Amino acid sequence: MISLIAAIGKNNELGKDNALIWHLKKDSAYFKETTLNHRVVMGLNTYLSIGSPLPKRTNIVLTTHKELINDENIIIYDSLDKLKKDLLNTREEIFIIGGASLYQAFYSIADKMYLTEIEDSQDADVYFPKIDQNDWNKKIIEELEENGIKYAFTIYERKLK
Ligand SMILES: NC(=O)c1ccc[n+]([C@@H]2O[C@H](COP(=O)([O-])OP(=O)(O)OC[C@H]3O[C@@H](n4cnc5c(N)ncnc54)[C@H](OP(=O)(O)O)[C@@H]3O)[C@@H](O)[C@H]2O)c1
Repeated sequence: MISLIAAIGKNNELGKDNALIWHLKKDSAYFKETTLNHRVVMGLNTYLSIGSPLPKRTNIVLTTHKELINDENIIIYDSLDKLKKDLLNTREEIFIIGGASLYQAFYSIADKMYLTEIEDSQDADVYFPKIDQNDWNKKIIEELEENGIKYAFTIYERKLK
């Protein structure tokens, strides 16, 4: 089962200059709690932006530059097709944690999305894919406010066809 997890602005903003735009403590805690002990999948830029493997999770990185990763605990894929094939063969929940290119690659085959929807709009250079609301059942899990910024944890489950 494939889940996307992301924090997005009002216009689907994801990041700028290979960094996050917003730093929301409760969102970081929610991300950790949700992904802990699972497999997490990311693109090279996101891995480099985080700077080290996420603890207590199996870290999978998609890249054609494996020489840039010098941590033997990271599982590296250089083929999106092979990665998708391996992930689709498992029942366990696997989290796609970014960035934009990985969300784009997995959007159409994801079963679930954990989206932190931030009531703010900022300059960005990467965006989450356009969401067709007709394809998903959306639930608001919790509404929060931090540093004057309102945001909500939401879960989207793909509608059965
Ligand atoms: N708001 C959020 O929740 C959130 C979460 C995560 C990331 N972000 C932000 O997103 C931005 C990074 O996103 P991004 O799209 O630039 O980068 P990314 O998806 O993290 O990584 C892109 C890299 O992944 C590899 N890759 C992607 N598709 C591939 C394929 N089909 N085959 C082989 N390798 C492939 C390539 O590496 P090679 O060039 O080595 O081949 C590509 O350059 C940052 O600003 C980050 O802060 C935001």
